[in-house]
Amino acid sequence: MNARSTVIAIDGPAAAGKGTLARRIANHLGYAYLDTGLIYRAVGLKTLERGADPADAEAATSAALALAPEDLKRPDLRGDEAANAASKVAAIPSVRAALLDFQRQFAASPPNGAPGAVLDGRDVGTVVCPDADRKLFVNASLEVRAARRVKELRERGVEAIHTRVLKDMKERDTRDSERDAAPLAPAENALLIDTSTLNPDEVFNLALRLVSAGRSSD
Ligand code: CDP
Repeated sequence: MNARSTVIAIDGPAAAGKGTLARRIANHLGYAYLDTGLIYRAVGLKTLERGADPADAEAATSAALALAPEDLKRPDLRGDEAANAASKVAAIPSVRAALLDFQRQFAASPPNGAPGAVLDGRDVGTVVCPDADRKLFVNASLEVRAARRVKELRERGVEAIHTRVLKDMKERDTRDSERDAAPLAPAENALLIDTSTLNPDEVFNLALRLVSAGRSSD
């Protein structure tokens, strides 16, 4: 039997820097990486494409059950339409339930025989992998996160208006934090990192120190 996979859970709100951090930690340790937000984005877009409202539980659940690997490779997954649809389908318990096994399977048996997995999202440390070996909760102020998202969108050639991005992000934060199903919240034993005044290298070095220092549950 294979040795148990080491799991690192990284949660936090939009544009807090968890994706960049998760990818770097995974590369550094030779672990597999799963951006769980992409799954919700793919379900959101699939629901819209079927002409349905992402808040419609039946339509969104049917889209979640029909999700195929190629849906996670769509180039438009990173856009704001996908983000907003994602946070609507993500509030539906049957959608979350339909996506749980895939995420847990990825963590327990990472692809290509990797010895561990890094998963980032909103509920990895609380619901998907409550027994993760390390849990980080990455946050930053709303202003900083909105400014980062604007920069990211503009770098991708997408027109972005700061006030609009800030408003969308605030709405999404509220929806993600106040929903009943797996709301965005730090796990009890998560290590907190505020990235508001840190650059990506500083965040990575701090996270690596925290991850190597001991199990989050110690
Ligand atoms: O990249 P960004 O942080 O803006 O968003 P994302 O991580 O791709 O997630 C998009 C949306 O999916 C979030 O606003 C959540 O509503 C939902 N999501 C979730 O509910 N649970 C997860 N584990 C990951 C994402």
